[in-house]
Amino acid sequence: MKLLTASILFSLLFTALPAELNSQTLKEAFKEYFLIGGAISDFQAAGKEPEALELAAEQFNTITPENMLKWERVHPEPGKYNFELSDKLIEFGLKNGMFIVGHTLVWHNQTPDWVFKDDNGNYLDREQLLERLREHIHTVVGRYKGKIKGWDVVNEAVDEDGSLRKSKWLEIIGEDYIEKAFEYAHEADPEAELYYNDFNTWHKAKRDGIMKLVRNLLDKGVKIDGIGLQGHWGLDYPSLDELDESLQEYSSTGLKIMITELDINILPTPNNYTGAEITKSFEQQKKYNPYPDGLPDSMQTVLAERYAELFGKFLKYRDSITRVTFWGIHDGHSWLNNWPIRGRTSYPLLFDRELKPKPAFYAVIKTVKEINCK
Ligand code: XIL
Repeated sequence: MKLLTASILFSLLFTALPAELNSQTLKEAFKEYFLIGGAISDFQAAGKEPEALELAAEQFNTITPENMLKWERVHPEPGKYNFELSDKLIEFGLKNGMFIVGHTLVWHNQTPDWVFKDDNGNYLDREQLLERLREHIHTVVGRYKGKIKGWDVVNEAVDEDGSLRKSKWLEIIGEDYIEKAFEYAHEADPEAELYYNDFNTWHKAKRDGIMKLVRNLLDKGVKIDGIGLQGHWGLDYPSLDELDESLQEYSSTGLKIMITELDINILPTPNNYTGAEITKSFEQQKKYNPYPDGLPDSMQTVLAERYAELFGKFLKYRDSITRVTFWGIHDGHSWLNNWPIRGRTSYPLLFDRELKPKPAFYAVIKTVKEINCK
């Protein structure tokens, strides 16, 4: 009963105000505080969902390519680059005056096996792999010099226990593959901002690992401008205290802090898994797909409240946070419909499948209005 009353109250609150709030766009509402954006999929960049691009142009002032600049897409074979979609994305971003983020140069996923091998299928040695990395970074970053303003240079290099992830990059090159990647990116575009990006950044052990990595880069004088917290979160993780502590700690580096891939998974996740390792996969079962025909109002409310509390924290750290990017534009096209379980109906973003703002959208706008009134 209490929940019901709260939910009615809440929807009244957010449906009674739309005329006023509706006229607000996200980029307008947050303009004094941080950039706000979304990831654009290959499908969308190819122009196959023009209404989603229109919504992105209306609401966002920054975009990130969801997949098209990952190694396997942009450089699928030795000597073969494929810039068709990324060129389109850049054109769209520039036309709309957006801050374009490049994602990503070095990662353990979506990187073909050939990258680590020679023509005979033998693993490269350190110098050969460094040369290959350098060539890749110079080609991709160089092509968009002055247009892509910030790069996720290294993605997910830290493991859950805080140690460096045992990737092929680490195995073949050694720990300094990270600083080398930053150096190459800096050579290729001295003006571009350079970031380290990861998930589960609020877990204590991992947080310590990321802080160690970042401090090491800073001590060595490597150019790094920001730390990207992916933000693939749930209704109860991270807790507000965990988020607060981690924002405080990352801010203490003096670097720019970004929430780079925000989405809130409200569907049940097996084993309470909180990570975003894309190779993780669980079997589909009915109980894991509870809302195939639409999200009940009560859950819209829960999601809206969660978004409101998260944005409350982002605004608290607005002096350090320079950007918040959602991982997608609307629910219909979110990767969470197929990960970590294929074929679910997911509701993680601010816009629904009809591209209409959800109660969570109004809740987010309201957080910033409250700040403005103080
Ligand atoms: C995801 C994309 O959204 C999916 O379309 C793709 O199939 C797999 O990768 N962390 C990252 C992103 O840094 O690049 C991932 O994006 C999600 C997790």
